[in-house]
Amino acid sequence: MKPIGCPQGLLAGMIGLAGVMWAAPLSAAPAAPPAIATPPVYVPDLSHQNEPLPNGVLVWDSMQKTVETNDAANEAEFVFNFTNVSGGNVVFLDVHPSCGCTTAHLPPLPWTVAPGAAGQIAATVNIAGKIGTLIKAINITTDKGRTQLTLVIKIVPAPLPTMSEAERQKAVELARIDRQAVFKNNCATCHVQRGQGKYGEALYQADCAICHESERRASFVPDLHDLKVPTNLDFWRTWIAHGKPGTFMPAFAQSDGGPLTDMQIASLAAYLNAAIPSKVPPPQ
Ligand code: HEC
Ligand code: HEC
Repeated sequence: MKPIGCPQGLLAGMIGLAGVMWAAPLSAAPAAPPAIATPPVYVPDLSHQNEPLPNGVLVWDSMQKTVETNDAANEAEFVFNFTNVSGGNVVFLDVHPSCGCTTAHLPPLPWTVAPGAAGQIAATVNIAGKIGTLIKAINITTDKGRTQLTLVIKIVPAPLPTMSEAERQKAVELARIDRQAVFKNNCATCHVQRGQGKYGEALYQADCAICHESERRASFVPDLHDLKVPTNLDFWRTWIAHGKPGTFMPAFAQSDGGPLTDMQIASLAAYLNAAIPSKVPPPQ
């Protein structure tokens, strides 16, 4: 039993009394039902939502963040922190990433942030198969105006896996017998899997640079940036698809027993044709 004078006890007693009065059949004047207290609902003023958010409302730790990662990663993560430095509530009405590859993480909308309160918007960007610099945005609409966060992702090629000298000797022996050996068994972990699902430059870094850009490569692996023959789309497509029998250059086309689809080969040829202009003019 609660001590007399406790507010809840008192209130319960009053409600009990009101209930009795309400139920009394002979009561002359109908008594009002007890008032139930609910917190006031904050109704945002929506007249400014399409204007730029003025200064002095939200202060962010940064409105543009950069993540550096390599192409072995499938996602880049961002966290933006802010404080409501204005004297009133700020209501987040809409938070909209610039592309389907970006997901924003925040409390359910509409999200009311009290004056002085801090908040956080996190984001995940899907970068699978991408390389280079990507720029994404998150568009934010609040009842005080709109603003935008910028997400920069710099994706460099993952460091090349390496083999011991003995492993390399053995690999070269196997490839001498069968130039397609690089795509088989254990060899595939370095020579096939890194390129799966990739196109263009990202695919080049995974499947070609492993041999052609390695500083430790054998002397019989040519430098593709210094070719002595004229090049064009067809040159690249043919070499990639069919390689060269009797050498260590494998055939990448699936029709030749390689790992790449026609679309991957076309994307590689287009990338290389643009990235490595022909040094030698084609014969007239
Ligand atoms: C296993 C190592 C290896 C891989 C992987 C590889 N190459 Fe080669 N590539 C070679 C070798 C060795 C040669 C030299 C062939 C010869 O003796 O003519 C060569 C030759 C070439 C040539 C002819 C260059 C010339 O001198 O005319 C091109 C073009 C080429 N490769 C492109 C590529 C591309 C594009 C990829 C990625 C799809 C790739 N290579 C992947 C080993 C490799
Ligand atoms: C751990 C990753 C890895 C594995 C597994 C691997 N390779 Fe390689 N391979 C490389 C790298 C890296 C190079 C570039 C040369 C270097 O840096 O040692 C290369 C180069 C080559 C070359 C070009 C010759 C040269 O030495 O430059 C051939 C041919 C080759 N690999 C065949 C194979 C075969 C066949 C297998 C399976 C028996 C295999 N590789 C397994 C990473 C690997």
